[in-house]
Amino acid sequence: MFISEKLEKARKYEKEESVKIDKSERPVYHMYTPVGWMNDPNGFSVFDGTCHLFFQYHPYSTQWGPMHWGHYTTKDFIQWKIQPCAMAPDMEYDKDGCFSGTALEWRGQHVLMYTSVKETLCPNGEKITRQTQSIAIGDGVNYLKYSGNPVIKADLLPKGNSQVDFRDPKIWKDENGFWAVIGTKDYEGCGQLALFHSENLTQWEFVKILDESKDEYGKMWECPDFFQLEGRQVLIVSPQFMRADGKEFHNGNNSIYFIGDYDKETMEWKRDKPFLIDYGLDFYAPETIEYTDGRRIMIGWLQNWDNYLLPDGYCWSGMMTIPRELSIQNGRLIQNPVRELEKYRGNRQTYIDYVLSAENGKITLKNIEGRCLDITVTLTKQDFENFNIYLAAGDSYETVIRYDRHRGIITTDRTCCGMWKDLLTERNLKLEKEDLEQVTLRILLDKNSIELFVNHGKYVMSTLIYTPATAKDIYFETDGNAIFTVEKYDILEQI
Ligand code: FRU
Repeated sequence: MFISEKLEKARKYEKEESVKIDKSERPVYHMYTPVGWMNDPNGFSVFDGTCHLFFQYHPYSTQWGPMHWGHYTTKDFIQWKIQPCAMAPDMEYDKDGCFSGTALEWRGQHVLMYTSVKETLCPNGEKITRQTQSIAIGDGVNYLKYSGNPVIKADLLPKGNSQVDFRDPKIWKDENGFWAVIGTKDYEGCGQLALFHSENLTQWEFVKILDESKDEYGKMWECPDFFQLEGRQVLIVSPQFMRADGKEFHNGNNSIYFIGDYDKETMEWKRDKPFLIDYGLDFYAPETIEYTDGRRIMIGWLQNWDNYLLPDGYCWSGMMTIPRELSIQNGRLIQNPVRELEKYRGNRQTYIDYVLSAENGKITLKNIEGRCLDITVTLTKQDFENFNIYLAAGDSYETVIRYDRHRGIITTDRTCCGMWKDLLTERNLKLEKEDLEQVTLRILLDKNSIELFVNHGKYVMSTLIYTPATAKDIYFETDGNAIFTVEKYDILEQI
């Protein structure tokens, strides 16, 4: 198979440079970039029985740059095997980037659809950007870009739609052929999703605008996903420039979901109101897969475009969330860490009905410490206003999970995690009334990240903390009386 010079260079670079990075600064059970910069997950798919995950990749620096597709495979969503870089921006039509996209298996081949980006500098100095959709076909390691690329251009869109913002195809196949939903902007600059159809993956026709923001939920809708789950249909989008609405959304880039119903024959899509997928500071652009055993699993970029935080001297930037199993309960998407994580748990330590009151101050519990943990705290008696858990604490560092019972608010506060820049440090999540009776906090800590799953996955908060590894204490504190249960496991590197 033809390997371009650019791709060859990226493959050589990642191979040589990734081994130089100190392993002790890497996450233990999350996927991370081998070297350089990583953003969105791409092409999350099963091919030939193996799960593949690609990602937006700029190997040469810790900043976003001309996008490549990096590549991993996994057998259990916890251990990731690096594969050679899959695509470089090496064609005339994608010379300025191979942006996000998805993948599927078709007739024994692995088909990737991605956004090909081309910029042209006009004689008058004006820069014209065109985003189109292209495909690459491969064997799980090497991918050949189709000679007829790009296969979808923005001129198929309704008149007035953006020719510049047209990206992140989600493709799937059903008995009626191949389908793609692609993010675009209407003539007023509001986000829309365009639905396309094809019989053969190479010739596509515009079908309709499937959904639109109408300026209610942000501008450009990036990275759509659209799938069936438990008899309903779920739409995930990551809108840019969204405005906060009380505590439910926040300013800037959000990732939201709508649950609704989709009629495959008439292509009618009706949806309920949206919810935020993750209430933390660091989450964006998730993708899902339907795994071989029927589970719908989602993975997201554990970072955000604003609030970019990286310690000096790091040669890599970017990790993914723990893959999460999705289900629906009472109109909400429920997310829980993949069950495979349980195989990596060891050194169990529990405290049943531990009684804590204000007079005790900040307490530690024997064997409840560390930076690579799966720990669940269940509050069985809540006679207090505030209950706090301090994580990655010590040497004047700490990140606090604060539960304000009267206001029903859970906050992750990383003010003292070791940041040296004036960036956002806190984010809140407002519990619904029905959630207050018993609050369960499952916390996944992995070196530099905290993912908090509240009430068995009804709410999730993901946050990066770049705290020195020596800060590994955990404290509990309340201003009243609390009774709680703790179940803690270390996550082991090998099983
Ligand atoms: C989302 C995004 C996508 C785009 C990619 C570029 O984070 O902006 O819309 O395809 O990143 O890297």
